[in-house]
Amino acid sequence: MIPASLGKSEMSANNIYSQGWSLDDVRWDLFDPSKIEPWMVTAVKAAALVEFNAPDYVSYLKRIFPDAATQAAMEEWGKEESQHGRALGRWAEMADPTFKLADTFARFREGYRPAQFQGDGTTSIRGSKRGEMISRCVVESGTSSYYSAIRDATDEPVLKEIAGRIAADEYRHYRLFFETLNTQAEPDLPFWRKLIVAVGRVNESDDDELAFAYYCAAVPKAREAAQPYVRAQCAKASYGTILRIYRRRHVQKLAQMVSKAIGADPQGRMTNLAGALLWRMLRVRAGLSRVSAAQEA
Ligand SMILES: [Fe+2]
Ligand SMILES: [Fe+2]
Repeated sequence: MIPASLGKSEMSANNIYSQGWSLDDVRWDLFDPSKIEPWMVTAVKAAALVEFNAPDYVSYLKRIFPDAATQAAMEEWGKEESQHGRALGRWAEMADPTFKLADTFARFREGYRPAQFQGDGTTSIRGSKRGEMISRCVVESGTSSYYSAIRDATDEPVLKEIAGRIAADEYRHYRLFFETLNTQAEPDLPFWRKLIVAVGRVNESDDDELAFAYYCAAVPKAREAAQPYVRAQCAKASYGTILRIYRRRHVQKLAQMVSKAIGADPQGRMTNLAGALLWRMLRVRAGLSRVSAAQEA
């Protein structure tokens, strides 16, 4: 079942950018260095590192979902996520020739390896297959809205194109996990349980993954000793950049997608409240009490 009651922007993005693109399809020749902004370059570097980590997620998901069809879908999903990392990394290397995706990714991977990727467990850390898929839907809701926001925030033509292509992929990933969620033989989870999984996954955006990716993106290896990793500082700076990219409408879309995944009404009052709370959480984590009128749009 495809979620039908979500907004139109991702759907139209899907129409423009279909699945199965490659780096050769991107118009790299349109790159305009006069349109790049340093804070956006850091955000793109950090995103490239997180995306490029996808093979670890694929191994983990394949342990939890032993059936061949789901495993094949996860393999394909992982390839697309890795390509997102390569596309964003290539753009960042053009914007900052001192940046090298491979070297920076090696630093990131050395410092960030969550426990579930290191073991060989066949049970999801979310407690069930359905819980795992709700968690994946939350992540894809986040990435889909984030790349839509980057697409809307940048005037650099190549980044605009890459972000548009990736946002369309992320929306398709959300649909893949949503469909996988609803075809599990396990009984449906009670609503409160789904809510706990979703809120738990949103809260995990406070963990090391984003903060450490931001650190590796912002601090070159040569400056590591002078400027060591301080998680709280990096998390705050990372959220400051995220808040600079997001507009209120992107966060509302995120809330609608998560609501749909847990069986709530995407247009209902609870979803509106969740969107407002998420927007507030972003501001708090970025250390800002208020945002501009433009950001509220
Ligand atoms: Fe991605
Ligand atoms: Fe994705």
